[in-house]
Amino acid sequence: MSESRPAPSGWATSGPSPEEVKACCAAGYQSDAVALILGESYHPGGTALTRRLAQALGLRPGERIADVASGPGTTALLLAAEFGVDVDGIDLAAASVAAANARAADAGFEGRVTFRLGDAERLPLAHGSVDAVVCECALCTFPDKAAAASEMARVLKPGGRAGITDVTLYPDRLDPQLASLAGWVACIAGARPVTDYCHYLERAGLQVTVTEAHDDALAKMIEAVDARLVAYGMIDAPALAGVDIAAVRQKVAIAARALADGVAGYSLLVAVKPR
Ligand SMILES: C[S@@+](CC[C@H](N)C(=O)[O-])C[C@H]1O[C@@H](n2cnc3c(N)ncnc32)[C@H](O)[C@@H]1O
Repeated sequence: MSESRPAPSGWATSGPSPEEVKACCAAGYQSDAVALILGESYHPGGTALTRRLAQALGLRPGERIADVASGPGTTALLLAAEFGVDVDGIDLAAASVAAANARAADAGFEGRVTFRLGDAERLPLAHGSVDAVVCECALCTFPDKAAAASEMARVLKPGGRAGITDVTLYPDRLDPQLASLAGWVACIAGARPVTDYCHYLERAGLQVTVTEAHDDALAKMIEAVDARLVAYGMIDAPALAGVDIAAVRQKVAIAARALADGVAGYSLLVAVKPR
């Protein structure tokens, strides 16, 4: 899983390597601290935006869906329960995969919703095997976005749809304090303008049919994260032991400024694989 590969083209020679970014994202998102601070869904807009994405994708009962970077499994379980689809969740974090499989079993979705270990840049799925791909708040963290977009296109059936929600960013206006490994894990440092995401998808052979701005979802998430940091900091929550809450809140404030200044935002995209 973690064999080393050359940096993708355009990768800065200084700063964290692609393998460091991936390892740190996987470690960060399977931690108890992140679960406590982010809640049930690890993306802005939560389950409401997942429903909007499912609607924009036109999911139909019986379809097979890949959830790329499935995290805690909330999205996959919601799509199975409310849209009647079967889901293959793929994530790089072993503990998240195990916890999500346990949730699927508890919810009675064993066999219909399955989570497995895998890298978005090399999906463990056959060519043309899924009707739709969803990927929420994760393309921004992939070091090789072109490879991840090609993989989405490869696993889709002709006529299949890819649905993405993600942080958008003008990287040349990013505060240097967020251009770090922690900034990558926080979905900021690796984010790109929405036009770049469209280009990755189009270069992979997909046709972008929908783009929507959901910056308000990012604003609400930033507020909620800050409020939880304050609340859990006051009670010395064990999951946050060793976390420098003041330093994290300072980064959260910088992210809030980036949003207010129009440097960062959150977008939804749908792209279709031609028949
Ligand atoms: C911000 S969380 C989003 C999780 C989930 N999509 C959600 O919205 O709740 C990012 C997820 O991407 C996963 N991840 C990061 N890099 C990955 C990669 N190269 N391949 C697969 N998963 C990856 C992390 O382990 C984490 O679960």
